[in-house]
Amino acid sequence: MARVVLGVAGSIAAYKSAELVRLFTKAGIEVTVVMTRAATEFITPLTLATLSNRPVTVEQFGPPVGPTAGWELSDSSGGAVLRVAESDRPMESATVVGGEGPRSASGIEHIRATREADLIVVAPATANLLGKVANGICDDALSTTLLASTVPVLFCPAMNTRMWEHPAVRANVRQLMERGAQFVDPGTGELACGEYGAGRMAEPEEILGAVRRLLSGVRRGRLLVTAGGTEEPIDPVRCISNRSSGKMGFAVAEAGRDLGYDVTVIHAATSTPPPSGVTLLPVRTAEEMGNALHHLHADFDLLVMAAAVADYRPRRAHAVKLPSGEASMRVDLVPNPDLLASLRGQREGKLTVGFALEWGGTPRERVARARRKLQEKGCDLIALNNPLESDSQFGGDTNRITLLYADGRTRELGLLSKYDAARALLDGLPAPRPIAPVLSLVPTTAGAKPKTKPSTKNPRRTATPRRSGPSANPQKPPRGGSRKKAPR
Ligand SMILES: Cc1cc2nc3c(=O)[nH]c(=O)nc-3n(C[C@H](O)[C@H](O)[C@H](O)COP(=O)(O)O)c2cc1C
Repeated sequence: MARVVLGVAGSIAAYKSAELVRLFTKAGIEVTVVMTRAATEFITPLTLATLSNRPVTVEQFGPPVGPTAGWELSDSSGGAVLRVAESDRPMESATVVGGEGPRSASGIEHIRATREADLIVVAPATANLLGKVANGICDDALSTTLLASTVPVLFCPAMNTRMWEHPAVRANVRQLMERGAQFVDPGTGELACGEYGAGRMAEPEEILGAVRRLLSGVRRGRLLVTAGGTEEPIDPVRCISNRSSGKMGFAVAEAGRDLGYDVTVIHAATSTPPPSGVTLLPVRTAEEMGNALHHLHADFDLLVMAAAVADYRPRRAHAVKLPSGEASMRVDLVPNPDLLASLRGQREGKLTVGFALEWGGTPRERVARARRKLQEKGCDLIALNNPLESDSQFGGDTNRITLLYADGRTRELGLLSKYDAARALLDGLPAPRPIAPVLSLVPTTAGAKPKTKPSTKNPRRTATPRRSGPSANPQKPPRGGSRKKAPR
């Protein structure tokens, strides 16, 4: 099980740390919280202790409360309160609150947890905290933990725009990055102070994505996903569409983001919120989706076509609303181009994944038809949906997918959440570039045990973990679609 220490500093964004603890725990990450005193003005240690089910460290030097060295367990407001009495190890004396912490004098497990952590995440990181750590000041439990540790650190700053842009803060951030610290930059939006600008802490999901990348190794590359169901207009208010919710495409985008891809999603109509931290490109029709794909796909390493593109569109889209009340209406349909096949010949060096929905016949016949599609469209992988089971329908949260690879392999994924199915799909593909474990980006100090050898080749040692989105590739928006980042 991965172990993360979550440092919480005194920003209004500290309320988001509760959600972070919940997300980490749900993702199977053991989380130990260390707070600054200022942070306790914004969220109580008891809240975080309860959510993490572990003691929370606040004070570096806790008041002696017992007659002997060790832990005393008492009850406070329905939660357990643990205090360290006498300690001859200043680094290990602390006041901790709540959780199922140590109950004997044999050791101070929460400090051990910080020593054994795989990663320290500071969210929110205040201007004050960044300044202290950059300058080697350790006058509280969190700054001391950070200075005493050799594990990778991920800072998620939150502050007013003018603070974030202040030369002193810029210099501190630069200094920390040069020493190997990683950052999830704050986003732009309305700030708690009522102003608008950069400084808002990244959303917990995005931070979890960065944490997953740091814990599991980074897969750099650009992933283009299509999602949702296209809408083919009959007139300005009516259209032909399908029941696609966009959940599978968004799950692929989310899983790709968590694996470290820069993700762009071209999406038609959806009925589910998009993931954060990916670039969204809304379109309506199959034609718009085709235009977007033709403009963009050359810039991507991996294309996953999860959208339900209408096979047919009305021959004519009427410019004005057709009158209602007619006894019958005839709509002539013409086939839409096959978007995946239309990109054939332009996809050299890129991995392409298609989705197939086969109805009727035996499972073996459906697999055979999907395999024919794989060959005709020149894909590397086809994910065959099973629409006949009630647990793998459009709009549902689970799916049963069969993966058919170009080299002839077939892999049944069984019943999985759409996210897990997407993860398995992406995990089964070759990485576009070599996986570089991020732990190697952090310089190790003499005497400290390096987890992996520091890489001298990797220029990303000083890089901020990139936000998802192909920022290095200015791309033309397609007709009818404007590019926007998922809401933060
Ligand atoms: C209501 C309020 C909100 C604050 N929000 C922030 C913030 O978002 N970022 C920041 O750097 N400081 C913020 N501060 C100032 C810090 O709390 C202050 O600098 C404090 O000393 C930080 O202590 P710490 O770094 O030990 O947590 C805020 C202060 C108040 C009163």
